[in-house]
Amino acid sequence: MKKNILIIPGDGIGQEVTVWGKQVLASIAAQFNHEFSFQEAIMGHTAIEATGNPLPDETLVKAKASDAILFGAIGHQKYDNDPSAKVRPEQGLLKIRKELGLYANLRPILLFDELLDASSLKPEVLRGTDILFFRELTGDVYFGEKKRNEQNTFASDLMNYNRYEVERIARKAYEAARTRGKKVCSVDKANVLETSRLWREVVQEIAAQYPDVETEHMFIDNAAMQLVKNPKKFDVVLTANLFGDILTDEASQIAGSMGMLASASIGDGTGFFEPIHGSAHDIAGQDKANPLASILSVALMLDIAFGLQEEARVVTNAVAATLKSGWRTGDIANAETRPENILGTNAMGAKVLELLKK
Ligand code: IPM
Ligand code: MG
Repeated sequence: MKKNILIIPGDGIGQEVTVWGKQVLASIAAQFNHEFSFQEAIMGHTAIEATGNPLPDETLVKAKASDAILFGAIGHQKYDNDPSAKVRPEQGLLKIRKELGLYANLRPILLFDELLDASSLKPEVLRGTDILFFRELTGDVYFGEKKRNEQNTFASDLMNYNRYEVERIARKAYEAARTRGKKVCSVDKANVLETSRLWREVVQEIAAQYPDVETEHMFIDNAAMQLVKNPKKFDVVLTANLFGDILTDEASQIAGSMGMLASASIGDGTGFFEPIHGSAHDIAGQDKANPLASILSVALMLDIAFGLQEEARVVTNAVAATLKSGWRTGDIANAETRPENILGTNAMGAKVLELLKK
């Protein structure tokens, strides 16, 4: 198979972890006789520094011309403490999601048995959890009109949804549920928000077309609580952009660490694959970041973008084997981990690569 893959390392630890995602892709290509060619592009703070624009046109052109994109992370603390900055790294990510029509963000909460004791939650609460989030990605308050009055005493962000936006993500979630536990939990705030009432109405209509899938509607506040109380009860979780952003960070603790979670953003064209973690400038450049989320994002790319299920399995198995052998990065180590088993980004990436070849 011939594929043209765009690597966008982005900011902070994004630069360090995508190196390993790319190496894994190259190794899979060699092992399975595929021809993967790689291009690189800039985005985020890195792109602002180089061009003044968080998403240069050149990056967008390359993105549209590629078969899949592996992205690292975005952001810089300089902007976090400067709410008045007009140009921000995150604008690059939001714009590329919109431009590529990436309306469905899949975030699997993949729990490796070896990491049951890396979480702050009890192993018996976690064991057996397997959740797939469908987060809507190109609508909601993220993309609604933003306002601030001249006196600087008022601001507003418009939360809005079109029927078709809810329909298409709901359909994707139900299709996926059919191949899994056959349950969809749709999360909203329909007791308060009009957008959520439209959301619930549309989901009910789609649900009627999937009688073999069990549907539950849950308010976001309750869902946030249930997720840590009894995560096993969830199969597919379907939710809006902002609720999904928050819930999936919470859910990452089920998998032990943000450093473990991969995501796939799909829609009309080229798919976009990235860890759910941020740029983590506090540990950037120190060889401390966990490369596994980037490597697992590669597994999602192979599976979802290229239909290479066997290759995807080989990657996921190599990650599992690495953990089984006892290797950990700092974020997934615990008090019992032997210090010599705690590896940096590069040593951890190299371990996975070694086991991938076996
Ligand atoms: C995510 C991130 C982004 C989001 C930020 C960086 C804009 O938190 O992908 O979850 O809010 O969507
Ligand atoms: Mg987030």
